[in-house]
Amino acid sequence: WKVSSETVFKQGPVVPVLVINDVAHAVPLAKALMKGGINVLEVTLRTEVALEAIKKIADEVPEAMIGAGTVTNEAQLKQVEAAGAKFAISPGQTTSLLEAGKRCSIALIPGISSISELMNGLDLGYTHFKFFPAEASGGIKALKSIGGPFPDVTFCPTGGIGPNNYLDYLALPNVQCAGGSWLAPDDAVESGDWDRITALAKAAVEGAKSLAK
Ligand code: 3PG
Repeated sequence: WKVSSETVFKQGPVVPVLVINDVAHAVPLAKALMKGGINVLEVTLRTEVALEAIKKIADEVPEAMIGAGTVTNEAQLKQVEAAGAKFAISPGQTTSLLEAGKRCSIALIPGISSISELMNGLDLGYTHFKFFPAEASGGIKALKSIGGPFPDVTFCPTGGIGPNNYLDYLALPNVQCAGGSWLAPDDAVESGDWDRITALAKAAVEGAKSLAK
């Protein structure tokens, strides 16, 4: 099944940014997050087993909306598409990546951290962006300011977001979901503490319900 960026954002409201070092962790990690109420997953291409992990989750947890993160060029976009990712997220944008995103069959959510990058993305037909690195790029204040001239653009901020500030981001009118690694801390993944990950997911989803977005 094919999903659009709109659908990915709507599924939120929190998107776990996952770093998987051992492919054996992929399926239990995906299941632990889903048990906690999260079904959008971003597996970053930061480890050797990332593509294999995406493929495993796509095959064995078909109800998960599995995506790839840290996709920075067309070759990687094709690799994650072939692995079964339903969407791809990039930390930034180049014109060649944006053009490749229009040609491929999965949704590309490009990253921006400046108005000029945003305008380049809009020129190429994108309206849904990752805002990265969110905290370091001005955070809530920056997103509020961007919402003035560009009210129809929607963001998923990531980078420096955690339990203490994700609701402040989600409360913004131009933010539909927020992402981060806080939902699957390295030590919990490495030790297979899936209950802790389910609890973190549950807490994040419950907290966001109070915003009724
Ligand atoms: C990302 O790729 O979105 C970030 O690395 C996540 O940032 P965080 O670790 O600060 O949540």
